[in-house]
Amino acid sequence: MSVGTGSSSSVIVPLTAEHAEQVLAIYRAGIDEGNATFETTPPDWETFDAAKLPDHRFVALDEHGAVLGWVAATKVSDRCAYAGVVEHSVYVHPAARGRGVASALLKALIDSTEQAGVWTIQSGIFPENAASLAVHQRAGFRVIGTRERIGRHHGRWRDVVLVERRSPAID
Ligand SMILES: CC(C)(COP(=O)(O)OP(=O)(O)OC[C@H]1O[C@@H](n2cnc3c(N)ncnc32)[C@H](O)[C@@H]1OP(=O)(O)O)[C@@H](O)C(=O)NCCC(=O)NCCS
Repeated sequence: MSVGTGSSSSVIVPLTAEHAEQVLAIYRAGIDEGNATFETTPPDWETFDAAKLPDHRFVALDEHGAVLGWVAATKVSDRCAYAGVVEHSVYVHPAARGRGVASALLKALIDSTEQAGVWTIQSGIFPENAASLAVHQRAGFRVIGTRERIGRHHGRWRDVVLVERRSPAID
């Protein structure tokens, strides 16, 4: 798949072990900015790899094969009723933001999940993360609501905005 990303173009390919180092470095950069996740450090590759669904993880690569960003999903529950519900994360290298990389990654995730019969993609976003809220609303996610003071982050209570995209393609 080839996507236009502003001044240059990128390709979206499955996220594999060969991308591990760059994916985790981009994850760390997002974590260190303080508005991406409650996590304070990225997992090691084995933990990341075991948690993320193999068919629903992608990277965007630049023309030299460098990773610009990644998206990956996890199961939310083992209960049958939620078999088609996943939760995702999307992270873009700080130098590659604002040119459609996250939008392209979300499109790849939406396509792969819909093809696999997944009907809902959900995520939690800190209300201060204006970029992520904008990107997700742009990609067809709706805001469910805000969970107030749901967890502590570096000792401070934080709210989380729940967003979801219910696929119109799956009845
Ligand atoms: C959130 C993040 C993934 C966005 O990635 P990105 O590649 O810069 O986003 P895109 O360029 O695809 O932007 C998609 C849309 O969101 C909008 N958007 C992006 N950043 C924005 C910002 N800071 N403020 C308002 N809107 C913004 C864009 O304008 C674009 O809309 P458009 O197509 O109408 O112009 C990126 O900022 C990031 O990696 N942040 C750190 C990690 C993180 O917070 N991940 C999400 C955890 S929930």
